[in-house]
Amino acid sequence: MDLFEAIEQRHSVRAFKPDPVPREMIERLIAAAAAAPSAMNEQPWRFYVTTGETRTRVGEIMARGTTHLEEFIDVIGPEHHAKAVEWYSELGHAPVVIVCTMPRVDDEFWRLNKHLSIGAAIENILLAATALGLGACNITFSFYVRDELFEALGVPEDRTMVAIIAVGYAEDEQPAPPSREADVAVYLD
Ligand SMILES: Cc1cc2nc3c(=O)[nH]c(=O)nc-3n(C[C@H](O)[C@H](O)[C@H](O)COP(=O)(O)O)c2cc1C
Repeated sequence: MDLFEAIEQRHSVRAFKPDPVPREMIERLIAAAAAAPSAMNEQPWRFYVTTGETRTRVGEIMARGTTHLEEFIDVIGPEHHAKAVEWYSELGHAPVVIVCTMPRVDDEFWRLNKHLSIGAAIENILLAATALGLGACNITFSFYVRDELFEALGVPEDRTMVAIIAVGYAEDEQPAPPSREADVAVYLD
């Protein structure tokens, strides 16, 4: 698949088939992430790839974190609350969840650099997943259970969590992708 096709076709997938994702495919996603640009070529990312039992543990912890959805009730609307609880508890039955981490840092400038670097790596994962016929969704709601996730996965204390990515084969029925604003630049000659 051409890069621009992947960019256009990528959308967040929130419902997955139960089929496992072959290890070689997951490794290609991680290789795509590791090829991302990073500030000072620091490559601050470490990815914890969960499948099987650890993936189940991630789901249990995320389910407990749904109590925090109350804080977003004005944003998501009370009518979508139950759906949101289901989504974060089950993560669309994604067979793979990738936990994206970076070193903890107090300095604002270096935190910015690390966030942008991991963001680039995450986008590479999302585009590579699209090109491989997989679906994925980047999730920062995991923020609320970051300590529990780190403990369950044995992530060292000098790291912090940026996001998790649900990955798998997309269910056939998918909602229409959201619309895009095209007029997003000011061209100055
Ligand atoms: C930084 C970031 C955080 C996100 N966090 C969540 C999240 O916590 N839960 C979720 O369902 N989707 C999350 N998303 C996915 C966005 O909702 C999605 O990208 C956006 O609605 C546009 O839809 P699309 O990805 O299908 O183009 C996140 C995306 C980004 C870039």
